[in-house]
Amino acid sequence: MKHIFREGSDKSKPVLLLLHGTGGTEQDLLPLGDMIDSTASVLSVRGNVSENGMPRYFRRIAEGVFDEEDLIFRTKELNEFLGEAAEKYQFNRNNIIAIGYSNGANIAGSLLFHYENALKGAMLHHPMVPRRGVELPNLAGLPVFISAGENDPICPAQETKDLDELLSKAGATVEVHWENNGHQLTQTEVSAAADWYNNYIK
Ligand code: MLT
Repeated sequence: MKHIFREGSDKSKPVLLLLHGTGGTEQDLLPLGDMIDSTASVLSVRGNVSENGMPRYFRRIAEGVFDEEDLIFRTKELNEFLGEAAEKYQFNRNNIIAIGYSNGANIAGSLLFHYENALKGAMLHHPMVPRRGVELPNLAGLPVFISAGENDPICPAQETKDLDELLSKAGATVEVHWENNGHQLTQTEVSAAADWYNNYIK
Protein backbone atom coordinates (compact mmCIF):
# COMPACT_ATOMS: atom_id res chain seq x y z
CA MET A 1 0.00 0.00 0.00
CA LYS A 2 1.23 3.54 -0.71
CA HIS A 3 2.47 5.00 2.56
CA ILE A 4 4.88 7.20 4.47
CA PHE A 5 6.90 5.85 7.38
CA ARG A 6 8.61 8.40 9.60
CA GLU A 7 10.72 7.08 12.40
CA GLY A 8 10.17 8.84 15.74
CA SER A 9 12.84 9.94 18.20
CA ASP A 10 11.39 7.62 20.89
CA LYS A 11 11.12 4.05 19.68
CA SER A 12 9.49 2.88 22.90
CA LYS A 13 6.37 4.84 21.86
CA PRO A 14 3.61 3.20 19.85
CA VAL A 15 3.61 3.61 16.09
CA LEU A 16 0.81 5.98 15.06
CA LEU A 17 -1.12 4.55 12.11
CA LEU A 18 -2.70 7.48 10.23
CA LEU A 19 -5.81 6.83 8.12
CA HIS A 20 -7.28 9.70 6.09
CA GLY A 21 -10.86 10.53 5.10
CA THR A 22 -12.43 9.97 1.67
CA GLY A 23 -10.49 11.90 -0.98
CA GLY A 24 -7.47 12.31 1.29
CA THR A 25 -3.92 11.07 1.02
CA GLU A 26 -1.18 9.79 3.30
CA GLN A 27 -0.03 13.44 3.72
CA ASP A 28 -3.26 14.66 5.35
CA LEU A 29 -2.96 13.49 8.93
CA LEU A 30 0.80 13.96 9.41
CA PRO A 31 0.23 17.25 11.34
CA LEU A 32 -2.38 15.45 13.48
CA GLY A 33 0.14 12.73 14.34
CA ASP A 34 2.57 15.46 15.46
CA MET A 35 -0.09 17.02 17.68
CA ILE A 36 -0.77 13.70 19.37
CA ASP A 37 2.85 12.64 19.90
CA SER A 38 5.73 14.29 18.05
CA THR A 39 8.22 11.72 19.36
CA ALA A 40 6.36 8.63 18.07
CA SER A 41 6.99 6.90 14.73
CA VAL A 42 4.28 7.41 12.16
CA LEU A 43 2.94 5.08 9.47
CA SER A 44 0.53 6.94 7.21
CA VAL A 45 -1.26 4.82 4.61
CA ARG A 46 -3.24 5.76 1.53
CA GLY A 47 -6.47 3.88 0.84
CA ASN A 48 -6.20 1.41 -2.04
CA VAL A 49 -9.66 2.05 -3.46
CA SER A 50 -10.52 4.94 -5.77
CA GLU A 51 -14.00 6.47 -5.89
CA ASN A 52 -13.98 8.75 -8.93
CA GLY A 53 -10.33 9.51 -8.21
CA MET A 54 -10.85 9.91 -4.45
CA PRO A 55 -8.80 7.50 -2.35
CA ARG A 56 -10.74 5.41 0.18
CA TYR A 57 -9.98 2.30 2.23
CA PHE A 58 -12.94 0.27 0.92
CA ARG A 59 -15.79 0.60 -1.55
CA ARG A 60 -19.22 1.90 -0.68
CA ILE A 61 -22.51 1.38 -2.47
CA ALA A 62 -23.86 4.78 -1.38
CA GLU A 63 -22.98 7.33 1.28
CA GLY A 64 -22.96 5.42 4.58
CA VAL A 65 -23.74 2.08 2.83
CA PHE A 66 -20.62 -0.07 2.74
CA ASP A 67 -19.68 -2.83 0.30
CA GLU A 68 -19.21 -5.49 2.99
CA GLU A 69 -17.31 -7.94 0.85
CA ASP A 70 -14.80 -5.26 -0.11
CA LEU A 71 -14.64 -4.00 3.49
CA ILE A 72 -13.67 -7.49 4.68
CA PHE A 73 -11.11 -7.92 1.88
CA ARG A 74 -9.55 -4.46 2.43
CA THR A 75 -9.45 -4.90 6.21
CA LYS A 76 -7.46 -8.11 5.73
CA GLU A 77 -5.20 -6.38 3.22
CA LEU A 78 -4.47 -3.53 5.66
CA ASN A 79 -3.92 -5.94 8.55
CA GLU A 80 -1.39 -7.89 6.47
CA PHE A 81 0.27 -4.68 5.33
CA LEU A 82 0.80 -3.71 9.00
CA GLY A 83 2.70 -6.96 9.53
CA GLU A 84 4.86 -6.35 6.44
CA ALA A 85 5.56 -2.74 7.46
CA ALA A 86 6.57 -3.82 10.98
CA GLU A 87 9.14 -6.18 9.50
CA LYS A 88 10.43 -3.72 6.93
CA TYR A 89 10.76 -0.79 9.34
CA GLN A 90 11.63 -2.88 12.40
CA PHE A 91 8.89 -1.79 14.77
CA ASN A 92 6.74 -3.79 17.18
CA ARG A 93 3.66 -5.09 15.34
CA ASN A 94 1.81 -5.27 18.65
CA ASN A 95 2.30 -1.62 19.48
CA ILE A 96 0.26 0.23 16.84
CA ILE A 97 -2.31 2.91 17.70
CA ALA A 98 -4.61 4.00 14.88
CA ILE A 99 -5.70 7.59 14.29
CA GLY A 100 -8.46 7.67 11.69
CA TYR A 101 -10.85 10.27 10.37
CA SER A 102 -14.17 9.38 8.72
CA ASN A 103 -13.48 6.62 6.16
CA GLY A 104 -10.09 6.11 7.88
CA ALA A 105 -11.84 5.76 11.25
CA ASN A 106 -14.17 3.21 9.68
CA ILE A 107 -11.37 0.96 8.42
CA ALA A 108 -9.65 1.29 11.84
CA GLY A 109 -12.96 0.26 13.44
CA SER A 110 -13.13 -2.63 11.01
CA LEU A 111 -9.66 -3.81 12.09
CA LEU A 112 -11.00 -3.90 15.67
CA PHE A 113 -14.15 -5.74 14.57
CA HIS A 114 -12.25 -8.45 12.68
CA TYR A 115 -8.87 -9.02 14.36
CA GLU A 116 -8.11 -9.47 18.03
CA ASN A 117 -4.59 -8.08 17.97
CA ALA A 118 -4.60 -5.67 15.04
CA LEU A 119 -4.30 -2.53 17.16
CA LYS A 120 -3.19 -1.63 20.67
CA GLY A 121 -5.63 1.26 20.74
CA ALA A 122 -7.48 3.64 18.46
CA MET A 123 -8.53 7.25 18.07
CA LEU A 124 -11.58 7.32 15.84
CA HIS A 125 -12.74 10.71 14.59
CA HIS A 126 -16.32 10.62 13.23
CA PRO A 127 -16.60 6.84 12.76
CA MET A 128 -19.60 4.66 11.91
CA VAL A 129 -20.35 1.04 12.78
CA PRO A 130 -18.29 -0.81 10.14
CA ARG A 131 -20.43 -3.98 10.17
CA ARG A 132 -23.50 -5.15 12.03
CA GLY A 133 -24.57 -8.58 13.19
CA VAL A 134 -21.07 -9.98 13.71
CA GLU A 135 -19.35 -11.20 16.83
CA LEU A 136 -16.40 -9.04 17.80
CA PRO A 137 -13.10 -10.48 18.99
CA ASN A 138 -12.07 -10.14 22.61
CA LEU A 139 -11.01 -6.50 23.03
CA ALA A 140 -10.50 -6.65 26.80
CA GLY A 141 -8.93 -3.45 28.08
CA LEU A 142 -8.30 -2.01 24.62
CA PRO A 143 -8.42 1.80 24.84
CA VAL A 144 -10.58 3.57 22.23
CA PHE A 145 -11.24 7.30 21.87
CA ILE A 146 -14.18 8.36 19.70
CA SER A 147 -14.99 11.91 18.71
CA ALA A 148 -18.34 12.61 17.10
CA GLY A 149 -20.69 15.40 16.09
CA GLU A 150 -24.18 15.49 17.55
CA ASN A 151 -25.24 17.05 14.25
CA ASP A 152 -22.93 15.09 11.91
CA PRO A 153 -24.93 14.47 8.70
CA ILE A 154 -22.54 11.74 7.46
CA CYS A 155 -22.07 9.82 10.72
CA PRO A 156 -25.34 10.12 12.69
CA ALA A 157 -25.05 10.30 16.49
CA GLN A 158 -26.78 6.92 16.84
CA GLU A 159 -23.87 5.29 14.94
CA THR A 160 -21.50 6.57 17.62
CA LYS A 161 -23.72 5.29 20.42
CA ASP A 162 -24.01 1.87 18.76
CA LEU A 163 -20.27 1.71 18.10
CA ASP A 164 -19.52 2.63 21.73
CA GLU A 165 -21.89 -0.13 22.89
CA LEU A 166 -20.50 -2.80 20.55
CA LEU A 167 -16.86 -2.07 21.38
CA SER A 168 -17.59 -1.81 25.11
CA LYS A 169 -19.43 -5.16 25.06
CA ALA A 170 -16.32 -6.71 23.51
CA GLY A 171 -14.32 -5.39 26.45
CA ALA A 172 -12.83 -2.17 25.07
CA THR A 173 -12.49 0.90 27.30
CA VAL A 174 -14.25 3.55 25.24
CA GLU A 175 -14.28 7.31 25.77
CA VAL A 176 -16.62 9.41 23.61
CA HIS A 177 -16.06 13.12 23.01
CA TRP A 178 -19.08 14.97 21.59
CA GLU A 179 -19.05 18.15 19.57
CA ASN A 180 -21.59 20.08 17.54
CA ASN A 181 -19.63 20.88 14.41
CA GLY A 182 -21.04 18.42 11.90
CA HIS A 183 -18.51 16.11 10.23
CA GLN A 184 -15.60 18.51 10.77
CA LEU A 185 -12.40 17.37 12.43
CA THR A 186 -11.87 20.22 14.90
CA GLN A 187 -8.91 21.49 16.90
CA THR A 188 -10.81 20.88 20.16
CA GLU A 189 -11.47 17.24 19.38
CA VAL A 190 -7.82 16.74 18.48
CA SER A 191 -6.86 18.32 21.83
CA ALA A 192 -9.28 15.94 23.57
CA ALA A 193 -7.66 13.03 21.69
CA ALA A 194 -4.20 14.22 22.78
CA ASP A 195 -5.34 14.37 26.43
CA TRP A 196 -6.82 10.88 26.12
CA TYR A 197 -3.57 9.58 24.55
CA ASN A 198 -1.51 11.07 27.39
CA ASN A 199 -3.75 9.39 29.96
CA TYR A 200 -4.13 5.97 28.38
CA ILE A 201 -1.16 5.28 26.16
CA LYS A 202 2.30 4.67 27.51
C1 MLT B 1 -17.49 6.10 4.70
O1 MLT B 1 -17.86 5.88 3.56
O2 MLT B 1 -16.54 5.54 5.23
C2 MLT B 1 -18.28 7.12 5.45
O3 MLT B 1 -19.45 7.43 4.77
C3 MLT B 1 -17.50 8.33 5.72
C4 MLT B 1 -16.94 8.92 4.48
O4 MLT B 1 -17.63 9.66 3.78
O5 MLT B 1 -15.79 8.66 4.19
